[in-house]
Amino acid sequence: MNRKIENPLVRIQSTDSTNNYANRQIRDNDVLEGTVFLTYEQTAGRGQINNFWESESGQNLTFSMVFYPDFLEIRRQFMLSKVVALGIHKAINKYVDSVSIKWPNDIYVGDKKLGGILIENSIMSGILKSSVVGIGLNVNQMVFHSNAPNPVSLQLLTNTHFDCEIILTEVVTGINSYYELLRQGEFDRIDREYISSLYRLNEKHGFRTGNEVFEGEIIGVNHIGQLLIRQNDGQILDYHFKEVEFLQED
Ligand code: BTN
Repeated sequence: MNRKIENPLVRIQSTDSTNNYANRQIRDNDVLEGTVFLTYEQTAGRGQINNFWESESGQNLTFSMVFYPDFLEIRRQFMLSKVVALGIHKAINKYVDSVSIKWPNDIYVGDKKLGGILIENSIMSGILKSSVVGIGLNVNQMVFHSNAPNPVSLQLLTNTHFDCEIILTEVVTGINSYYELLRQGEFDRIDREYISSLYRLNEKHGFRTGNEVFEGEIIGVNHIGQLLIRQNDGQILDYHFKEVEFLQED
């Protein structure tokens, strides 16, 4: 049976971070699965690895969704990251070409970063009790001031001003549909779509790990979410997040 997720939308004028806000809400209240906490301004938006997430007030999408993926084994938790990235990928594909997922879950257009995802899971007694999925998508921002690598917005890419809430509806619909596939256990399909959407898949590029720079080809991602790169000598190596850096060529 298909369980239809509803998406109550909570609009917040300003908050530190929608992930913090959502985490406080699920701690203190009953929050329906699929609830979206959207804000116009984050005063302490968080990116991966304690980075600050830059977003000009009112120009972009900054929101968090709440899920209760208690059906998902913990060893498969990277699946959640895949379905969220795929849902966004599908929605953004309607507006621009060359959308890809830069492992593990950045949304890229060409060589530029359009959006990022910050997932915070809470695990209790070996079960994924709740998941706060924070999404930042650059929609109308024209200038970026932080040292974030290669930021871009939909407006910079298309010269068009977008209604953020229309994009929000499409992104949420995309995520719902992939989340349903996850609930149905369609792991192979999700894996296939995720891998075929990967940035720089099957292309030779430079990478850095520690002090070593090498050339290789991304060939996929393993079941625990490590990136698999085939080096020029044929050896396949696996990397956890932050163990390997993509080099940009001009
Ligand atoms: C990344 O570094 O790529 C992840 C960025 C995630 C940013 C979003 S904006 C909404 C939500 N609230 C936060 O504080 N972070 C996420």
